[in-house]
Amino acid sequence: MKEQLESIRKQAVDEISAVGSEAELDALRVKYLGKKGLLTGILRGMGQLSAEERPVVGALANKVREDLENYIAERSAFLKEKELQERLILEKLDVTLPARKKTLGKLHPITQIENRMKEIFLGMGFEIAEGPEIESAYNNFDALNAPADHPSRDFSDTFYITPEVLLRTQTSPVQVRAMRGKQPPIRVISPGRVYRFDEVDATHSPMFHQLEGLVVDKNITMGDLKGTLSIFAKSMFGEETKTRFRPHNFPFTEPSAEVDVSCFVCGGKGCRLCKGEGWIEILGAGMVHPNVLSGCGIDPEVYSGFAFGIGLERVVMIKYNINDMRLLFENDIRFLKQF
Ligand code: DAH
Repeated sequence: MKEQLESIRKQAVDEISAVGSEAELDALRVKYLGKKGLLTGILRGMGQLSAEERPVVGALANKVREDLENYIAERSAFLKEKELQERLILEKLDVTLPARKKTLGKLHPITQIENRMKEIFLGMGFEIAEGPEIESAYNNFDALNAPADHPSRDFSDTFYITPEVLLRTQTSPVQVRAMRGKQPPIRVISPGRVYRFDEVDATHSPMFHQLEGLVVDKNITMGDLKGTLSIFAKSMFGEETKTRFRPHNFPFTEPSAEVDVSCFVCGGKGCRLCKGEGWIEILGAGMVHPNVLSGCGIDPEVYSGFAFGIGLERVVMIKYNINDMRLLFENDIRFLKQF
């Protein structure tokens, strides 16, 4: 029996040393020390022993039980410590890691330029006026003094919905809306989308953006127009920017002009951006035609005004040196996030 006890002890110690978890250890505790365990089985068989042997074997059995209990407790403590160490490594929080960057979106370059223009004109006392993209042919053409045979009316240039309703080809009809039923002083700008029946290429898109401006009051002269646009050009392109007016023809202004700004890259000497000209065309403008004023119920003998229209894509392309308008509408994030 002594040998049996010693071999149980040895077997138990071997098995306990090999366990890797508390659950396995519990199973061994039951296997050796439980009610139906191996050691208990031996103690139960002690009745067959002689009176001299019984206390010796009993003492040994108790010693083995005690040793195994101690050993199991020791192993349990070891396993707990090991588990803790593993968790500490696994759950380590490295506070020195840089925080993950939040990616913030950006405004489209056209919107950025539009916002900048609004800022400039609001600073000069303009208000923002709005008009619909689906407009009457009357507001888009007739009220703006466009003769019945004006080329822009052509069905091949304009998206007509019916012969009387169209997608506005310019923001100028907002002038009509701003004047009709009101009396001067009027000082408005109106940014928005316009539509023309154009093939898509590097400089054309069937949808693009303009910003219209209109001032009507007593004693408004071309000097006011020049001063206003000169301040605008300096704010938009830099303090040294000069403006130049070239005679032109628009049905709704008289006189009319195309307005250039001195090239802000070469300062007027001539470079790639201005194609060697030293000047870059940026907008159309003029003094509001008396027919337009009177058609809107404003007396041209009492009041006068000026108007201008700026193409936003053009300004964006010039300012950011973009050579293809399609880039602005493809909405490739790699392109857009540069601005
Ligand atoms: N509406 C013109 C266009 O689309 C631009 C323009 C020119 C607007 C002269 C104006 C202006 O208000 O006075 O080409």
